[in-house]
Amino acid sequence: MTMTEIKIELTTNKKDKPDINNLGFGRFFTDHMFVVDYTEGKGWHEPRIIPYQPISLDPASKVFHYAQTVFEGLKAYLTVDNKVLLFRPESNFKRLNASNERLCIPVIDEELALEALKQLVEVDREWIPNAPGTSLYIRPFIIATEPCLGVASSQNFQFIIILSPVGSYYKEGIKPVKILVEQQYVRAVAGGTGEAKTGGNYASSLKGQELANKDGYSQTLWLDGREKQYIEEVGSMNIFFKINGTVVTPALNGSILHGITRDSMIQLLKAKNIPVEERQISIHDITEAYHNGTLEEAFGTGTAAVISPIGELKWLDERIIINNGEIGEVTQMLYDTLTGIQNGSIPDQFNWTI
Ligand code: COI
Repeated sequence: MTMTEIKIELTTNKKDKPDINNLGFGRFFTDHMFVVDYTEGKGWHEPRIIPYQPISLDPASKVFHYAQTVFEGLKAYLTVDNKVLLFRPESNFKRLNASNERLCIPVIDEELALEALKQLVEVDREWIPNAPGTSLYIRPFIIATEPCLGVASSQNFQFIIILSPVGSYYKEGIKPVKILVEQQYVRAVAGGTGEAKTGGNYASSLKGQELANKDGYSQTLWLDGREKQYIEEVGSMNIFFKINGTVVTPALNGSILHGITRDSMIQLLKAKNIPVEERQISIHDITEAYHNGTLEEAFGTGTAAVISPIGELKWLDERIIINNGEIGEVTQMLYDTLTGIQNGSIPDQFNWTI
């Protein structure tokens, strides 16, 4: 596919825009979407921007039965001088292809996908919200569309990009949340699909979240699947702790998502000369740091929420209160700096925005 071939069909029926102060997360969608099809033997073909609409699929489509699907999440921002900024989109398409590889989905042309995204965002530019804390969330995804119940990779796929104006991911905004350390269920195992951004990982996380919610906690802290003692992720985010002045995050081990916000935080910390380590961290390291008074801050990172501070962890019968349940200094600094770079109010020394 070449982008000169992208056909654009504009809607003749523009939707009303939602109230910018009440966007929530992922509830509203713009006027257009990007679609390109894959057919075995023919490759990706017919890239097009069309009015946002339902898709019609055969009920036997493999995606419904065997979850052959991948997705991405990234954001576009409007600067005060009305420029559109995309945050690290090349990293998302690179990761999409890494996920494709794991799920036996044909790779996409990353450059062309980026061009398609730019054109789509331009077509729906008036949907990018400009109130503080808002952005345009971009959801690229690929689904297996071959109607066949045999367990084998699909012969047909569809790659779609949809756009959603969003407020903050959590109703509370950036406020410390309470997290339950999950002991029974695991999110992913080494050798499984934990490192890929694929729907099944999120489906299997729902039970833990339900149990956490029942107990009055917002999210689950996931331990490793083998020994159930090493920290992996929190909810659908990567996790960081500040212990005795050093920021630590679990090293990527095959079952942890390569978070783009995670990577950005590591680079930001290094640029600010704050010690940062990627290493294996056990739940016992955390309880020990709590007992000896060196557990200073904890937070999750992801595209949707950017940063979600952790005010409390519940592990067995113990309630671990972090920084008196308040937002830590480094957490706040990282949030302010990253969102500042993303919305163009802080110079981007990393060349992350385009
Ligand atoms: C993110 O933090 O961006 C996520 O991956 C959550 C998303 C699935 C809503």
